[in-house]
Amino acid sequence: MTTAVRVRVPAKVNLALRVGATDPEGYHELGTVFQALSLYDEVTAEPEEPGRFRLAFRGEGAAFLPTDDTNLAMRAAKLLARTHDVADAGVQLLVRKRIPVAGGMAGGSADAAAVLVACNELWGLGATTAELMELGSQLGADVPFMLLGNTAHGWGRGDRLTPLTTAGTYHWTLALSHGGLSTPTVFKEFDRLSEPRPTDIPAELIAALAAGDVAAVGAALVNDLAEPAVALLPTLSSTLEIGLQAGAVGAVVSGSGPSCAFLSSTPESAALVAEALTVFSGVRAVRSATGPVPGAEVVD
Ligand code: C5P
Repeated sequence: MTTAVRVRVPAKVNLALRVGATDPEGYHELGTVFQALSLYDEVTAEPEEPGRFRLAFRGEGAAFLPTDDTNLAMRAAKLLARTHDVADAGVQLLVRKRIPVAGGMAGGSADAAAVLVACNELWGLGATTAELMELGSQLGADVPFMLLGNTAHGWGRGDRLTPLTTAGTYHWTLALSHGGLSTPTVFKEFDRLSEPRPTDIPAELIAALAAGDVAAVGAALVNDLAEPAVALLPTLSSTLEIGLQAGAVGAVVSGSGPSCAFLSSTPESAALVAEALTVFSGVRAVRSATGPVPGAEVVD
């Protein structure tokens, strides 16, 4: 019998995020390019009495996270059990967090994706990644990508995915902010400030990724949620400026923010960007990561 399953799941950054019109449920049509980064949360799933679902967090921001049915990770476990009719389902979940909470790097969605993979293994369900991605889209728009990983074009609500071919390794520096931004609040601010935009992905970005042209990728980074995120947290514009002045080839607010992502051509250049951001009081912490990396996967 399986005793414990450990799953590692990456964070994501949006290299492009174009925001279109809202659908009747209030969701925006998106055109996005996701990349999975080597900044990981880890989920351990252990057997528990039938009917008992327990969730605990350790690490980055753990104290602020709910552990009941309002948490996406808990909902992921119960959705999987219900869908697969696991009569004696029970699980004890421990999430070790390194992805910033409410940072625009899909931490909550990443944990839900990791729980789907971990419980699929623990309960011996044999569901395919495609099946888990379909379930994941019922939990949140970013969950399917956290299962797929690497680099992908996201469309629809961001949950429909087409993998993208990329060359080379991308060196990222991530500046985490004091506090977080709520995703629905940032989308509402977008609606207040802007008209819906076309959701096409810049052709230069797709071509630069395929060619491994890091400088061209940096120049093509775009995020329609940057303006509302900066309006809600003005210090972000200084953060972006500092990273660019320190030599980053591109800078972008990650998703709905407030984390900012900086792209560099070499690890050495990324280290200089990290150094400059570390001393800025508007930044809580700095992380280094590379992409692309695979999505949620079982580790030994
Ligand atoms: O799908 P998820 O629960 O991650 O989305 C969080 C919130 O972000 C939604 O409730 C909605 O306010 C906003 N959102 C949106 N359009 C999308 C995805 C998310 O407006 N395509």
